[in-house]
Amino acid sequence: MDTIERRAPTTSYKRFKLRRMCGALGAEITGVDLAQPMDDELRTELNSAFLEHLVLCFPKQNISNDQQIAFTKTFGEIQPHPLYRSAEMEGYRDILVLEHKAGQFFNGRNDIWHTDMTFKEVPPKLGMLYCRAVDEGFGDTMFCNMYKAYDTLSEGMRAMLDPMKAMHSSALLQRRNNAKSYNIPIKEIPPPVIHPVIRTHPETGRKALFVNSSFVTNFVDMTEEESKSLVDYLVDHATQHERIYRHRWRVDDLVMWDQRATMHYVVIDYDADMHRRMHRTTVAGDRPF
Ligand code: OGA
Ligand code: MN
Repeated sequence: MDTIERRAPTTSYKRFKLRRMCGALGAEITGVDLAQPMDDELRTELNSAFLEHLVLCFPKQNISNDQQIAFTKTFGEIQPHPLYRSAEMEGYRDILVLEHKAGQFFNGRNDIWHTDMTFKEVPPKLGMLYCRAVDEGFGDTMFCNMYKAYDTLSEGMRAMLDPMKAMHSSALLQRRNNAKSYNIPIKEIPPPVIHPVIRTHPETGRKALFVNSSFVTNFVDMTEEESKSLVDYLVDHATQHERIYRHRWRVDDLVMWDQRATMHYVVIDYDADMHRRMHRTTVAGDRPF
């Protein structure tokens, strides 16, 4: 019988401890205090861990709003959400508050496989969530590895998808938002944008699948009807168990993920009276190519 070795991370780090969370993606980082300013060495090491593992989890962080913003900015410029104005934290426009309490979802429920804001011409590079309230084991967030999704498609499918482009629109987000009376209605949405179906990661050069259920309406030059089953198939393929890390939240976790090579999904399995509160920040990215 083959013996399965637990492979260590391919890089070792001076400034923190890293433990892989599962075979698909995701690593836990300990021994770093995100409340402290970053220096170049730490920033470089964190970025390289981020590029390798796609989702980094920092447990037991004690940071203020300003410190979350400062940490977010070590990776680039903050990108505000163009549509969820009602989610902006008072006094901190750079932080979105996603909350569930007493049977109500404030500012979106995210039980759909998606990558954030791909309806923008220049969608985000990374997202960060700082957990302020949760019942542990309820409302986990799942992440999937879109490099592996691409790598495990057949050669024929990859060749077919390679030149294809998809339309991304915020119409579905608007519909989901406006269906709930307690959300501020989104009145106008920007025109849809076109992105490649396979994107090249600007920092690693690796190819990743780049479609999602939230924003892709159709492939360019195809109808929505024709596109639907292929979008569904690709999302289904990307989100097989082998390509997923499921994060079980604890209060004070900070999790950051690479929007260029993952999708995520929130498991809405909590009771009506449970409180879940996340503070989200977002870093702007590059135009996908
Ligand atoms: C998001 C999102 C995930 C969560 O912030 O973009 O989808 O766990 N939320 O609340
Ligand atoms: Mn999201």
